Amino acid sequence: MPVPDRKTALITGASFGIGLELGRVFAREGYNLVLVARSADKLRQLASELEKAHGTRSLILAVDLTEPGAPAYVLDQTTRADIQVDVLVNNAGFGQYGLFAENDLEECLRQIQLNVTTLTHLTRLYLPAMIERAKVGTTTERKSGGILNVASTAAFQPGPLMAVYFATKAYVLHFSEALANELNGSGVTVTALCPGATATEFHKRANATGMNLLKFGAMDARTVAEDGYRALMAGKPVVISGFKNWLLAQSVRFSPRGLVTAIARKTQEAE
Ligand SMILES: NC(=O)c1ccc[n+]([C@@H]2O[C@H](COP(=O)([O-])OP(=O)(O)OC[C@H]3O[C@@H](n4cnc5c(N)ncnc54)[C@H](OP(=O)(O)O)[C@@H]3O)[C@@H](O)[C@H]2O)c1
Repeated sequence: MPVPDRKTALITGASFGIGLELGRVFAREGYNLVLVARSADKLRQLASELEKAHGTRSLILAVDLTEPGAPAYVLDQTTRADIQVDVLVNNAGFGQYGLFAENDLEECLRQIQLNVTTLTHLTRLYLPAMIERAKVGTTTERKSGGILNVASTAAFQPGPLMAVYFATKAYVLHFSEALANELNGSGVTVTALCPGATATEFHKRANATGMNLLKFGAMDARTVAEDGYRALMAGKPVVISGFKNWLLAQSVRFSPRGLVTAIARKTQEAE
């Protein structure tokens, strides 16, 4: 592992979808990677592709991030490998479609664990060292560290039929914005990336492929990843990927909450 003149980005959920594309973007930009997800074969495939294309060195951590001990394990592995994590990308997440009262409880709690608790835990584990390094770093170094949390346009309103998922993403957005404010002037930045519907494994895994929302089309994961990377590098606290998604997110701000929730339900329903 480390090639000393390269920075390192740790990306959770790098085996598929947006996380995989973020891996490709960070590698193209000269980062080494720590790739985290359960699918070791997919991570190995990506690592080999990126080594050939960009000379990227990758540490692969095949781990289930819903396990409460997983964040500490990840930190331990990067410490043992003497890797300094310059950018933490909390991307791994999943949704669960259906009525809350009927959904599987264990799956629901795993969702909160991954989307909220693991994201918070990893942030708390890696952030203090980033702040310390920024204190002693040069101006150039101070601009290079940061945290990219993948939220969603789901963060902007309640989401009947994916009630818990939408609430987890509201947490990610608010947590990230508050943290970005706390870190003002520290040299470390936090960005919440808010994609709308994106063509990945997400909807199939959530059993949500029939949703009306998907009739409006989905963005491609690469565009979303590029938007996230650019916003992180610019130190923006929030980025909504895609103009249509931005408009939708703005439109709920001045509408009655009951109406917003009713419309959200319509888009979540399947015909
Ligand atoms: N697709 C959309 O429409 C959309 C819209 C807004 C926001 N998002 C958010 O974007 C992020 C990425 O999702 P995606 O769309 O790229 O979905 P995806 O294609 O299903 O990818 C999800 C990634 O998370 C990883 N993951 C899931 N459960 C995990 C676990 N228990 N432990 C470790 N890793 C786990 C998966 O890897 P393994 O299965 O190999 O573990 C995979 O790499 C999520 O936070 C999602 O909420 C997606």
